[in-house]
Amino acid sequence: MSGPALREPSGTALDRGEGFPRPGDVMRGDTLVGLEHVYKIYRVADTGVAALGGVTFDVAKGEFVALVGPSGAGKSSILNVIGGLDRPTAGTVEIAGSDLGRLSDRDLTIYRRECVGFVWQGTARNLVPYLTVRENVEVPLLATEQAGSVRRRRAAELLELVGLSDRAGHRPFMLSGGEQQRAAVAVAVANLPAILLADEPTAELDSAAAERVLGSFRDAVREFGTTVIMVTHDLLAAARGDRTLRLLDGRIRNPAQPGRMDGEGRLELPPDVVATLAGSDLEVEISDGEVRIRRKRESRYG
Ligand SMILES: Nc1ncnc2c1ncn2[C@@H]1O[C@H](COP(=O)(O)OP(=O)(O)OP(=O)(O)O)[C@@H](O)[C@H]1O
Ligand SMILES: [Mg+2]
Repeated sequence: MSGPALREPSGTALDRGEGFPRPGDVMRGDTLVGLEHVYKIYRVADTGVAALGGVTFDVAKGEFVALVGPSGAGKSSILNVIGGLDRPTAGTVEIAGSDLGRLSDRDLTIYRRECVGFVWQGTARNLVPYLTVRENVEVPLLATEQAGSVRRRRAAELLELVGLSDRAGHRPFMLSGGEQQRAAVAVAVANLPAILLADEPTAELDSAAAERVLGSFRDAVREFGTTVIMVTHDLLAAARGDRTLRLLDGRIRNPAQPGRMDGEGRLELPPDVVATLAGSDLEVEISDGEVRIRRKRESRYG
């Protein structure tokens, strides 16, 4: 799906070189987002909760990455540190080679406002409740200093893109959960962010609406080189990305090698794995798109 909606204004804030310290010199395919040994420890009473336990990965400009993992794995925490909403306890987050931890508060605010679009988990946080849907979409456009008529036209195009033209004058509470989520996507892509961070953007959508949202992400990637990092539990949604990162207990897990099962259900495993499992009662679980084979009564993620 492509439409005129995402065509203006030309380029992202990062491409236009506004505000952000290392503008303009990021080409599609270059590393845009780099996390190195990122830890996030939350202090709760006397103890620490390690939400992220040393996360390292790169995302290229123009890449569409799906981030998957069980509840509590640290997915939202990763989006928060990439979006500059939260600082890691240790480790570095670099955007286009700039360490977010070294940005001044002013530059960090510019970065958040002009380079990052968010679709938050759940719907309440995404939309300003006392503004109409159209006004919500116009808010991020105010920072671009375009004429009011241009803003209104672009807001209308964005609402058409997500199929909400007939709800433009409604306030968020009048919308269904899925409609609110689609409105949130229109808000997030409105000012062509260089980085789009989306936390479960299709969670409340039926497959047609989900396809619309994912299509608009793909459009942004193709037409503007937007970099998308999308948290999802939906394996079909994850498959629309270029790559899937798996998170488990605050760490990125290397993907298991795909194995092929023969017609009789036999799967060839490496000899050392067979030796480890041999002679035990085994159980098999399928979740998060993986098959896990383990000895019975072992810890879940052992
Ligand atoms: N502000 C906080 N204070 C204390 N602990 C927190 C805080 N935020 C997150 N955590 C803990 O950090 C861990 C990771 O949380 P996070 O929200 O990143 O998980 P998630 O992968 O997004 O989960 P879900 O799929 O349920 O949204 C969880 O164990 C959570 O309880
Ligand atoms: Mg979360």
